[in-house]
Amino acid sequence: MDSFAGKLAVVTGGGSGMGRELVSQLAAQGCSVATCDWHEDAVGQSAAMAQAGAAPGVRVTAHACDVSDEAQVLRFRDELLEWHSREHVDLVFSNAGIGGGGSFVTDSREEWERTFAVDWQGVYYCARAFLPLLIASGDGVLVNTSSVNGFWAALGPGLPNTAYATAKFAIKGFSEALIEDLRTNAPGVRVAVVMPGHVGTDIIANSIRARGLPEPEAMTDAQLADLIPPDARAKLIEAGALPECASAEDMRQMLTRGNADFRDKAPLSAAQAAAIILDGVRAGTWRILVGEDAKMIDAAVRAKPETAYDYAELFSGLAGAAAAAAEKPDR
Ligand SMILES: NC(=O)c1ccc[n+]([C@@H]2O[C@H](COP(=O)([O-])OP(=O)(O)OC[C@H]3O[C@@H](n4cnc5c(N)ncnc54)[C@H](O)[C@@H]3O)[C@@H](O)[C@H]2O)c1
Repeated sequence: MDSFAGKLAVVTGGGSGMGRELVSQLAAQGCSVATCDWHEDAVGQSAAMAQAGAAPGVRVTAHACDVSDEAQVLRFRDELLEWHSREHVDLVFSNAGIGGGGSFVTDSREEWERTFAVDWQGVYYCARAFLPLLIASGDGVLVNTSSVNGFWAALGPGLPNTAYATAKFAIKGFSEALIEDLRTNAPGVRVAVVMPGHVGTDIIANSIRARGLPEPEAMTDAQLADLIPPDARAKLIEAGALPECASAEDMRQMLTRGNADFRDKAPLSAAQAAAIILDGVRAGTWRILVGEDAKMIDAAVRAKPETAYDYAELFSGLAGAAAAAAEKPDR
């Protein structure tokens, strides 16, 4: 695929971060886009921004849809075909995702299953809904967003990440399994799996919102205690993220600061990440690592899988992995 001009792309989770940037960059490159999000206002804003910078003839539409609900995904599909007067789509970016359900031991089953449903079932339902339309395109691409946590199931010491990593491993496995299936049974469609490292977005704040909680400043003490239970608070104090005897106000500030730092101090912006993803799709890459950190962790984990969770050893090997990744940037 040399160019996206004249094509129709679907982007899930278009209301923020990499999804919003994918929508804008696709539209600027002549691609019409149907984007969805479960936050209707946010996705409406993304569509308006993208339409303002779009190439002539491009149409960008915004749709409300929770990708973890199959009926809503099917309604989104039917709505976008009608609004764009098309019978096929050329690109599907299954990008929507949230964090949460870090501990299988201590977090609630409800939270664990919500994260898994959004991250895995969202991708699965979209593949089910859109594959026939990609086949009808004759030159379709399914782009599933996994993560470094799709090949390394950790965030570091004391930070379990079980629901997210389980879903992201599933996305990677599903996407890789589709390579031969599509080659054999649907040769007009290919699949790519996107594995970003740290990208500066509001995913922390959006994931807190996904639990039905307000912005940190508006959280009640009870909501804060539920979000950061005493043992988690103790670990945050030990790690220096909270002062001794942290008050509710300290925790509100830490959450706000944590999201801002994650967004503003990242090695890559959402716009840079989206550009890397689109370059990879255009080039026909099936394995799109986003960021030097993703390339380094990938190389380190594959070089010594047995020590992937011995953080000191893994991180000490990252310098060597960086050199290897620099030599082979598309690994
Ligand atoms: N930011 C990172 O460092 C990073 C790293 C690796 C992977 N990722 C993955 O990249 C993707 C995009 O993340 P981002 O960082 O841009 O996050 P983001 O929070 O900025 O954007 C995600 C968007 O998805 C939407 N969304 C969430 N659940 C949804 C649902 N059920 N239905 C419809 N829309 C939903 C959110 O409302 C939000 O607008 C996610 O799959 C995420 O897991 C992000």
